[in-house]
Amino acid sequence: MSAFASNPLFERVADDLATHGWTQQNIFLPEDLTLALAQECRNRAQAGQMNQAGIGSGIDPVIKESIRGDSIMWLNEGQSPSIDRYLNLMDSFKNTLNQSLFLGLEDYECHFAWYPPGAYYKKHLDRFRDDDRRTVTSVLYLNEGWLPEFGGEMRMHLGANKVYDVSPRLGTMMFFMSADWPHEVLAATKDRLSIAGWFRRRADNPLFV
Ligand code: OGA
Ligand code: MN
Repeated sequence: MSAFASNPLFERVADDLATHGWTQQNIFLPEDLTLALAQECRNRAQAGQMNQAGIGSGIDPVIKESIRGDSIMWLNEGQSPSIDRYLNLMDSFKNTLNQSLFLGLEDYECHFAWYPPGAYYKKHLDRFRDDDRRTVTSVLYLNEGWLPEFGGEMRMHLGANKVYDVSPRLGTMMFFMSADWPHEVLAATKDRLSIAGWFRRRADNPLFV
């Protein structure tokens, strides 16, 4: 297969993102990969390998549980076969995004996230004041058997007081333009696992990153 072989699902999703600015996919990755990632994420959380997330892009992010209460682990190649497979797929989706949306995306950064019961992330944009590289956000949910009454929705703020709530069910994938959509994570009554990621462009002013 050539590096530019097209994937019809990726192209449909890129089109939907281009048209609406965000898209929800209930089936995006192969189920065995989603299950393997869920297992990996759970194991890492149980093994104490996640760290409380901070706010801001600097080398010294500030921890404020009143703003966000999740713990995270950044993902890199070589950590596990499932993580490698995930990073490869997202890299090829990045190529589709570049071909259909001309975004000039350069890389993809992502982390496991674990929100313990009661943890939330207040309304925010995925853009830092001093770093405009984050262009497309992805969130993949890793919670098997999630029921609506557990809460933990991601609430998208669509403007004019309209909101759209996404239940963090296993395999659901959200993509949205990072600069355009304020969103928040509502508290859940159970542990809530996900992979949050960002496709990034070159910095407009590299001196400021
Ligand atoms: C984030 C975020 C959403 C979610 O990590 O920036 O908004 O549903 N995550 O986990
Ligand atoms: Mn966010």
